[in-house]
Order: sequence, then structure tokens, then C-alpha cells
Amino acid sequence: MRLDKFLCDSGFGTRKDAALIIKHGRVQIEGLSAVKANTDITGKKVFVDGQQIEYEDEIYLMMNKKAGVLTAARDKNAPTVMDELPQVALRRGISPVGRLDKDVTGLLLFTTNGELNHRLTSPKRNVEKRYIAKVDGVLSQNDIKLFEEGLDLGDFIAKPGKLSILEPNVGQVIVTEGKFHQVKRMFEKVGKPVLELKRVETAGVLLDESLLPGQFRPLTQDEISLLKKACQMEDE
Ligand code: URA
Repeated sequence: MRLDKFLCDSGFGTRKDAALIIKHGRVQIEGLSAVKANTDITGKKVFVDGQQIEYEDEIYLMMNKKAGVLTAARDKNAPTVMDELPQVALRRGISPVGRLDKDVTGLLLFTTNGELNHRLTSPKRNVEKRYIAKVDGVLSQNDIKLFEEGLDLGDFIAKPGKLSILEPNVGQVIVTEGKFHQVKRMFEKVGKPVLELKRVETAGVLLDESLLPGQFRPLTQDEISLLKKACQMEDE
């Protein structure tokens, strides 16, 4: 397989993007800097920015979602996260893993692996998601207790959330389900409405803070393994 096709299939963007990555000296094949897009990499080890990239039948990406963008397929009136993804990923049927509200930022995963996507979003699997919330109000020990007990949100009782106070008006919360507006509704319930919300971790995979808002990158092998492990899927 050609190097540029390998990079595109692995989620690094278009052939043009792949050519730029190569030109910028970011790719090594068997320890040597790659210079040509048409290099045959069959059976060889390819590294991008020092990370080995294994050929995957499925695509796995993380995005640092920016505010103002919908987590939806396509929308006539508003930009969506799908508008920012490479054509090759869209053609292969990539989907977001769960949703983030329009105003919410941070870690959004995407994959073509339907089974993994289903498991990561199934409430039965208790996959942990970590958020940082800036709230209107001062967080208290009692809020920690209320989160721990499981808040009654009217139409359902939220599973216990682990709240820690980072600053008087900034909390970190770990939840294991993702119902509509769930984190916002949990803070609202304790009388501290959310002003800003950012997801920073899913199942041990951390938001890569070097990604600018709207940017994405393929997951590393270790990150893919963490996701599979979190929902009891074998690493093939
Ligand atoms: N909780 C929310 O309220 N919104 C999100 O986008 C994610 C979790």
C-alpha cells in the first residue's frame, strides 16, 4: 500500500493533507524519514510524530469539539462536527460516539466501529466520562454528597456522579451515563447552573489538549485498547 493512502485510511485527512504531513518530516518508515507519498509501506512500520500507526480496518478519531457546532449528521442552518471530518472518514460511515450539546466543548470520539460505538454509549456498560464545569454559584461539600447519592432529575434518577471541587465555581464530575443535558441538569438541580462545560476524558482516553478547537486526530493503539477494555471488547 502507498504511504499517502495508508495515512488517509488511518484518519490523517485527504491525500493533500497526507502529502503535507510527509513534507513536514513527520513520518518515519522503519526509522527513516519518509519523503515520497508513493512509497510502498507494505509490511513496514510507520510512525507519525514518533507514534507507530498500525493499519486498522476501522477508523477511530478524537476531536476537540468547539462551541457553536452541532453533534449531528448534517444541518442546513448550523455547522456540524461532521463538516470538519475528512471525506474518506465520511465515506466509510464514521459516526460520533454519543453527543455533546452545541455549546459544550472538548473530547468527542468518532468511529466506524459500530459495535464499539454502541457499547461505549450503552448505559449498561457504565463507561466513565469526565467533565469540567464552570458554574454560577459556589460549590459545596453538600453538592458532592447530593451527586454521590444520585440526583432525582424528575424523569429519571441520575446514577451517582463523582464531583470534586477544583475552584469555588469550577467542578469536575465523572458520570457513567449520558442522557440529554445530563450534566447541566445535575448542576441545575443543586442550584448551580452551568456556564461552561467541557468533556476531558472518556474511558481513560484524555482530550489531547494540543488539538485546537475543531481539530481532530486518529487515536493511538493504546487509546483504542483503553476504549475496548472499558466495554469488554477483545483487542484483535
Ligand atoms: N451533559 C450535558 O449536559 N451536555 C453535554 O453535552 C454532555 C453532557
